[in-house]
Amino acid sequence: MNIRIGIITIQNSAYHPNRRLLEAARKFGYQGFLIHPYRLWPISAAGRLEVTGAHLSSLPHVVLPRQGAQIGDACLALIQQFQLMGVPLVNDHGAVSIARNKFLTQQALTAAGLPCPDTVFINDESGFFHGVDQLGGYPVVAKQTSGRQGDGVLRIMDANDARQRALPALDRRRGLMVQRYLPVDKRRDLRVLVIDGEVVCAASLIPSSGEFRANFHLGSDIETAALTRELEPIAVGAATVVGCDVAGVDIIVDKDDRPFIVEVNYAPGFKGLEAATGLDIAGRIIHFAADRHRQNRERRNG
Ligand SMILES: Nc1ncnc2c1ncn2[C@@H]1O[C@H](COP(=O)(O)OP(=O)(O)O)[C@@H](O)[C@H]1O
Ligand SMILES: [Mg+2]
Repeated sequence: MNIRIGIITIQNSAYHPNRRLLEAARKFGYQGFLIHPYRLWPISAAGRLEVTGAHLSSLPHVVLPRQGAQIGDACLALIQQFQLMGVPLVNDHGAVSIARNKFLTQQALTAAGLPCPDTVFINDESGFFHGVDQLGGYPVVAKQTSGRQGDGVLRIMDANDARQRALPALDRRRGLMVQRYLPVDKRRDLRVLVIDGEVVCAASLIPSSGEFRANFHLGSDIETAALTRELEPIAVGAATVVGCDVAGVDIIVDKDDRPFIVEVNYAPGFKGLEAATGLDIAGRIIHFAADRHRQNRERRNG
């Protein structure tokens, strides 16, 4: 059966996750293709919702929204369009809307009783300094609500540093997270891949020297890690609360073994994870997406 799997992305097919997802689709005998969110447009006309664009010959059976940090209202509208047209999404509009914003994510996780680093969400200079006081002083992490690969995550050492590096970039309408800093030498960074409510694999990331961010793209060492019994429900819970069928959950474990969820990625990269674990992660994602389509079809026919 020729299942059509659309991947919403602004990157081309050489970009690692795209290349691997397309390869995996081909391997299963499905038709995978990229959907550029700025070349396909939602249309609401004559009482119907459709999509229009010269590049799409037929509607996908299932869609993977994978535009990263640059995702904006336009792409979210396209995702919502597919959803309202009855095309299953991995992940859906609600999940992407929350996961793309690190503070909305933290709100949802905290409300569900899941652990996150203490954070004050501020929108002006006085809020920043008030937030630092609330958190017990410097250093703090200043974090943009959207960003990836460590971009927009700063360790701020004192008020001067804040004025020079954090406050100039402060956009009142977007806000900024001021977060308790978890010292790099007294913690472990984990990336956990969750698909369909189950942990597929986990890896530990060790920041390169002089760096406090453990992102793979910043040159961190990555190695496969076993997930303890305590951490598994936290990773799965984080994905579930945000509503992600596929999620890369970033967890920091402090020196006292306390876990803190720092991020739920709705379109996780998996180059490092595939290299570290030897697993065919692209295959798992495509397999899940195809299942989603089959369930959807059965529901519609049944
Ligand atoms: N509160 C914190 N204290 C110390 N390090 C942090 C904190 N928050 C994030 N980091 C480090 O910075 C990295 C990037 O932060 P994250 O919130 O995951 O944003 P990104 O979307 O850029 O990956 C994390 O993987 C972690 O290593
Ligand atoms: Mg991260």
